[in-house]
Amino acid sequence: MIASVKPAAVIVLAAGEGKRMKSRTPKMLHQLGGRSLLAHAVGAGRSLEPEHLVVVVGHAREQVAAHLEAVDPGAQPVVQAEQRGTGHAVRTALQALPPLRGTVVVTNGDVPLLRPGTLRALLATHEEQGAAATVLTAQVADPTGYGRIVRGPDGAVRGIVEHRDATPAQQAIAEINSGMFAFDAARLADALGRLDSDNSQGEEYLTDVLAILAADGHRVGAFVAEDETEILGVNDRVQLAQLGRVLNDRILTEWMRAGVTVVDPATTWVEATVRLEPDVTLHPQTQLRGATSVASGAEVGPDTTLTDVTVGPDAAVVRTHGERAVIGAGANVGPYAYLRPGTNLGESGKIGTFVETKNAEIGPGAKVPHLTYVGDATIGEGTNIGAGTIFANYDGVHKHHTDVGRHSFVGSDSVLVAPRQIGDGAYVAAGSTVVKDVGPGELAVARGQQRNIGGWVARKRAGTRTAEAAEAAQRARSGEPATPSGREATGETGAPHANGTRDTGDVDDAPKRSEQ
Ligand code: UD1
Ligand code: CA
Repeated sequence: MIASVKPAAVIVLAAGEGKRMKSRTPKMLHQLGGRSLLAHAVGAGRSLEPEHLVVVVGHAREQVAAHLEAVDPGAQPVVQAEQRGTGHAVRTALQALPPLRGTVVVTNGDVPLLRPGTLRALLATHEEQGAAATVLTAQVADPTGYGRIVRGPDGAVRGIVEHRDATPAQQAIAEINSGMFAFDAARLADALGRLDSDNSQGEEYLTDVLAILAADGHRVGAFVAEDETEILGVNDRVQLAQLGRVLNDRILTEWMRAGVTVVDPATTWVEATVRLEPDVTLHPQTQLRGATSVASGAEVGPDTTLTDVTVGPDAAVVRTHGERAVIGAGANVGPYAYLRPGTNLGESGKIGTFVETKNAEIGPGAKVPHLTYVGDATIGEGTNIGAGTIFANYDGVHKHHTDVGRHSFVGSDSVLVAPRQIGDGAYVAAGSTVVKDVGPGELAVARGQQRNIGGWVARKRAGTRTAEAAEAAQRARSGEPATPSGREATGETGAPHANGTRDTGDVDDAPKRSEQ
């Protein structure tokens, strides 16, 4: 069913304090699946393309109105200075609008899971039946707290009675008021003028409009939602969590139907704004938030939270926390990686274990595999950053950039003090603190030279197991039979290298033998 006409107005009620939330944050601003309750409600209202979209604000009105401006700048906030009930709220909204003709839709700001299609069906039913009012209802397992739909023997809606005002017999009714209505504009305005506040809360109830119109002999209809979860409201944090779960299940179900593998839907959380492609796999304990997108063949998780992250096809992201980052096709991230904003990992690149990156352009095939901080840096294609390298980007006052060229090699435990340029095809020796730029093809070595002091253990640690081990090794090397004491010390400085040279600063990756 498609509504033939667009409503004259949608009025979203959002002035209440939400006392039961027990929160500093206004209820409307609490988040569900990455959007505020208000954004959910306004989004559903906007989908009807009304002439006017009004949001009644009251409690924390500046904060709520500012949020509304961000969410839907075309929506009009109307202030209900005192919260004198839902009927009074709608009256206040109508007073802020020019006289309306046609249909007015009223929704509750705290009912976030309503599907636009259901709202359209409510509108269509209302218009087809030429009703003065039509209420969206549902049969629910536990109607506690909701207004009950009171029908006559013929099944026609007689009115709505609030839980607190209901008789025991009425409390047994399982059909509840969702708080969503379609009204004929003129009939609504007339009935609102006749509301009283003769009820347990001393408020003007919008729900009383239905009894007034029915008593006048007007047609009052109901549209029963098939899915009761659509009309559940958030009044406290228990319901917030329950509805969060419902929304998440809905989102995951849609993605699974669209070809995404969700290994454990119970521990996987995907916000409505996320985009996934077929053949994405989400492992347990994965949260995808905001504008995150994951391309086909990529695997995310376990234990991964990505916010506004773009994951390329066939990439793998394991036990990672990422925000505003881009991960290229076939790239590998984690386990235990922290991708901060501005991280951009190229195709087939790697950000490995215990690596933190920020404002980091890491080229295709480049690798930062272990225990590294990369801040404010560009790393060229195919370059390898050794374990424990730190890009020292902060001098205590300013942040500076470091540029490492293509196919270069930074040895383990290096500190690159920014601003720094390391050329294409350059080497940095392990353990270097690099404070001067390194040209293409150069090797930078910046560390203390090694001295091996022969016989030190025998002199200073005689009688220890270490000394025994050293003696045994020396005997074995010299082919001498075992003697109680090892060879005497050979002096303070290291003997010449086996090849006859002293340490020339030559660096290669083959482990050097300790030579005596
Ligand atoms: C309301 C309905 C109840 C329905 C339920 C559905 C009434 C009297 N009761 O109850 O029948 O089953 O919603 O969730 O309508 N608000 C204002 N101004 C006010 C009072 C409320 O804008 O003066 C707003 C609130 O911010 C909220 C909405 O109206 O978004 C509903 O108010 P709330 O107090 O939550 O009503 P419920 O007790 O849930
Ligand atoms: Ca409510």
